[in-house]
Amino acid sequence: MSQLKHLLSAADLSKSSAIEILDVAEEMAGVNSRDIKKLPTLRGKTVVNLFFEDSTRTRISFELAEKRLSADVINFSAKGSSVSKGESLKDTAQTLEAMGADAVVIRHHASGAANVLAHSGWINGSIINAGDGTHEHPTQALLDAFTIRRRIYGSESKGKDLSGLKIAIVGDVLHSRVARSNLILLNTLGAQVHLIAPPTLFPAAVDAWPATIRFDLDTAINEVDLDAVMMLRVQGERMNASYFPSEREYSRIWGMNADRLARLKPSALLMHPGPMNRGLEITAAAADSKNSTVLEQVANGVSVRMAVLYQLLSGERTNIDA
Ligand code: NCD
Repeated sequence: MSQLKHLLSAADLSKSSAIEILDVAEEMAGVNSRDIKKLPTLRGKTVVNLFFEDSTRTRISFELAEKRLSADVINFSAKGSSVSKGESLKDTAQTLEAMGADAVVIRHHASGAANVLAHSGWINGSIINAGDGTHEHPTQALLDAFTIRRRIYGSESKGKDLSGLKIAIVGDVLHSRVARSNLILLNTLGAQVHLIAPPTLFPAAVDAWPATIRFDLDTAINEVDLDAVMMLRVQGERMNASYFPSEREYSRIWGMNADRLARLKPSALLMHPGPMNRGLEITAAAADSKNSTVLEQVANGVSVRMAVLYQLLSGERTNIDA
């Protein structure tokens, strides 16, 4: 494939490059099930995790992925750094460049921050978007696609796309970078996407998106033979107004619960990127059910991020079995 330098958006991935990353992630999952979970691939490379926004899963997952590939890892969080003294993204980036960063994994509250870093000329290395505002979160979309493909195709997964699969994305679409990246990648991989949310939690331009727009979860469950349902976190921290009458009302109409789960087909996946608001968009019973892939998603995140780092940073040089 043509060598990707940055991963800023799920739209950076063609169908074949997405499948290639998912296939490499299968190899990485093999490494992650060994006793010694380590490859020399990124020895001598420096990767900086630049986190301006809180994160548990994504930050730990990238760090573990980098360490398993033997990179030198620097964790930089805005709290406790000069950013809290007002240092700009430009100065921070130039400092990292002076230290010789080969890649920067960035999470930022501003939509477009990763693009700015990639195209500013401040940094020469690869930029990986680990979530920018409400815009995109491409490695989350890749790990979700990987999780779906693995659950559905098992050991036959390699080389497969997601064509023919029907996937629902439910909830706070308006504020969700996970929804945007998933919508793009799922379309690239041939899946059919249904977006389901209260009208107030759709962006104005949603009619132009490549998805079926629905306002009612029950109708979607009754009418569509869904293969996977992705629940989105209600992102209270991004809400400056009241988008639904009450939490009780939200969970009654748009929440996943045991009753709705029972109306999905037995093999349907119930997904959530975490962190979950148990009792709001998903009940504890649903989150802990056998359909739930929440912890698989976390585990798969490490393999997928190893694959992304490998594709961006290792060039053609090593065989991952080495
Ligand atoms: C998501 C994020 O931060 O965008 N979480 C994650 O990366 N696992 C989703 C969310 O915060 O709701």
